[in-house]
Formats: sequence, structure tokens, C-alpha cells
Amino acid sequence: RRIALLGAPIDMGASQRGTLMGPAALRTAGLATLLESLDFEVVDYGDLSVAEIRDLADRPPAKANHYREIQRWTRVLSRRGYEIAQTGALPIFLGGDHTLSMGSVNAMARHWREHGRDLFVLWLDAHADYNTPETTITANMHGMSAAFLCGEAGLDGLLGDDARASIDPGRLDLFGARSIDKLEKELMRARRIRVVDMRQIDEFGVAVLIRRVIERVKADNGVLHVSFDVDFLDPCVAPGVGTTVPGGATYREAHLIMELLHDSGVVGSVDIVELNPFLDERGRTARTAVELIGSLFGQQITDRPTPSNAIA
Ligand code: ARG
Ligand code: MN
Ligand code: MN
Ligand code: MN
Repeated sequence: RRIALLGAPIDMGASQRGTLMGPAALRTAGLATLLESLDFEVVDYGDLSVAEIRDLADRPPAKANHYREIQRWTRVLSRRGYEIAQTGALPIFLGGDHTLSMGSVNAMARHWREHGRDLFVLWLDAHADYNTPETTITANMHGMSAAFLCGEAGLDGLLGDDARASIDPGRLDLFGARSIDKLEKELMRARRIRVVDMRQIDEFGVAVLIRRVIERVKADNGVLHVSFDVDFLDPCVAPGVGTTVPGGATYREAHLIMELLHDSGVVGSVDIVELNPFLDERGRTARTAVELIGSLFGQQITDRPTPSNAIA
């Protein structure tokens, strides 16, 4: 099986600069070599650029910082992601801040819809990213990507004439949340967004909760996109993030999630976002993120028999 790496050095969607170094750090930490050692063919498409993109003429919303720049990235990611998915490779999108997902998820939803399958999205994140220009406090667009993907109004011009393939809010699972704004929470309640917060993880454990997500995807013969915001992890294992929130997933919990996802065989694409190498400690966070991707693609401690439906 082939894996495609696609870098998107974006940082204007975040509150702090520096996530644009994310793709380089993930490569330096050995992502491609690790995937090859797990018997994947890896094609690295390098980093996307928006230098040549002509701006659209729609009116930027009042509360959406750097709208034009994010619009360029979203359009490029959506187009390239879609083309790469069409080659049959499994795309891993290397961020970049979490606005990356507005393009990557749109691309994958469009791709799978043409193949008659629904895209489900697992959002591993300390935050819900369910703000709109109406509800946001910060105007940072990385806090709006999940809402945009579920078809919320407010950023409607972002893709221009490119096909917008919104996902049904019932196919989104937020996982690991511990910081949600007041109006954001109200909007999520109105839309009945499912969220597994840290309290539930403490109480029931990640295995039970992640299996529920997997079962829903399987019941619908769907495909799962994993959007991994590095701040999902506890800051003590992942300090290289601009928006750390205490009380996150432990190293062990995160690996178990990835291992269970691997065994499920339902994962069709991945984002790794919000890694900020400028804030990291000697590459620790980049290395941890790469190790977790290893578990997601079949790295095991001891050789257990590989389940027949695992990604291979
Ligand atoms: N809810 C806050 C906001 O809207 C924080 C969002 C953080 N998002 C992220 N992808 N790290 O600004
Ligand atoms: Mn196709
Ligand atoms: Mn996020
Ligand atoms: Mn986050």
C-alpha cells in the first residue's frame, strides 16, 4: 500500500507563529523512513505553496484573521488532496495549523463520495474547533475548522467555486476535548455534536470509547479521516504546541488509540497539525508525533497476529 505525504506550511490560522516548520520537523524526525520500515511505499509530494494563487474577490468576514491567506491554502489543499487521493495512495497531511483540515477533509469527503462512501472524521484535539466568525473570541481560524467542515455558515466563500463537500455533523467525533468556548459550546449543543471529553476518558478509558467510534464507521461501510491536533496530548509529553491545555491524553493512551485505529482498518487519511517546532524541546514533540503515526500504521511492541482488516 502506498502512503502520500503532503506538507502544508501554514501558520496564519493559529495564535502563534511557527507551525509552518511542522512538515520539516516531522520529516526530520524520520516519518518516511519509519513508514517504509513498516512496508509502505512512501511518496513525498513535498510542501505546497500558495505563492502563485490568485485571490478571490469575496468579502472577508469581519472576525476571521488572515482570511485571504487561509483561503489560498484551503483551495490548494482541497485540490491537491483530491488529486492525490485519486491516485489510490493514503494521504498524510503534514501541518501547519489546524486550518489545514478545511482543505484536507474537504478533499477526502469529495473523493470518497464519488466512490459511494461516506467520510467520518475523528478529531483528536484539546479543543472543539467549532467556532464560526460569529461565535469566535480570538478570530483565529484554526478554531473554526470543524464547524466549517460541518457546513456551518460564515466562511462560505472559502473554497470559491471549488466543490464543497461538507460532512454530516453526525459523522464527526471530537475526542479529548478540555477547552471549549461558551458560544462554541452552545452551537455544538444545537447541532448535537458528539464529544468525548477528558472526563469521559478518565471514567471509561480510551479503548471502550474509541471502539464506539470505529463501530459507527464500520456499520456504515464508511472511511475514517483522523485529524490529529498535537495538543490532544498532555503538554508534558507534547510541549511543542502553541495552545497547550493541561490534562491531555497520556503517551500510553495516545498509542493505544493509534493501535486500535490501525487494527480497525477503517483509516483512509490523516492530518498531523499544530506541531510548533519553534516551541519544542529538542524535537521531543515531533518525535512523539512520528512514533504515534508508527502505531497508527502497524508498529507493534511484540508481533501480534495482524488482524485481517488492518491497513496493509
Ligand atoms: N477555541 C479557541 C479559539 O477559537 C482555541 C482554538 C484552538 N484551536 C486549535 N486548533 N489549536 O481561538
Ligand atoms: Mn477516484
Ligand atoms: Mn485543533
Ligand atoms: Mn487544539
